[in-house]
Amino acid sequence: MLKLVKGMRIVAATHNPGKVPEIAALLGGDYEIVTAGQLNLPEPEETESTFSGNAMLKARHAARLSGEVSLADDSGLSVAALDGAPGIFSARWAGPKKDFALAMRKVEERLEEAGATDRRAWFTSALAVAWPDGPCVVVEGEVHGELAFPPRGERGFGYDPIFRPDGFDQTFGEMEPHAKDAMSHRARAFEKLKAALID
Ligand code: IMP
Repeated sequence: MLKLVKGMRIVAATHNPGKVPEIAALLGGDYEIVTAGQLNLPEPEETESTFSGNAMLKARHAARLSGEVSLADDSGLSVAALDGAPGIFSARWAGPKKDFALAMRKVEERLEEAGATDRRAWFTSALAVAWPDGPCVVVEGEVHGELAFPPRGERGFGYDPIFRPDGFDQTFGEMEPHAKDAMSHRARAFEKLKAALID
């Protein structure tokens, strides 16, 4: 059986040390998290065409190079009227300067160019756990809502100021962080991962 056993070390396939406390908290503690960056593992190119594909690619790459169980995520915003764009290119739409004001304007411009009135969108978080001897488990969590322009709110990150989850008046950029965290795509993906891999 593939399980994550409490106390074990997990390699987080990221070079962003800021993700460690988040991953530790979402897994419910009890794990030693070390990043691929701390182990000096190179980052692979994200060549797959889906969130799950890229999460598995990153987890497998880290597991193969480290010889340890590795966890990777891939996430982004998909817009219904743009056939799911920016999707796996969500980070790349912000350019090398990670300018999300630019990325959000690009979403609005693409909708205008398409003459689209459909504002439905969703965030996806794919999480993959890979074992060095080959097996890999992947899950996805989603949160659905509508886009709101102009962007609203100073909280959160990325596309949060233009995303209003279904059933709420505030955008993710306006919400209390704990309210977003309770319903986010990431929280939903971690719940599924824990159900699958932790006793
Ligand atoms: P990744 O690090 O390659 O998975 O890129 C994910 C990108 O998707 C981030 O840079 C954000 O732009 C966007 N994204 C993912 N999750 C969220 C979220 O919860 N709020 C806002 N933007 C998000």
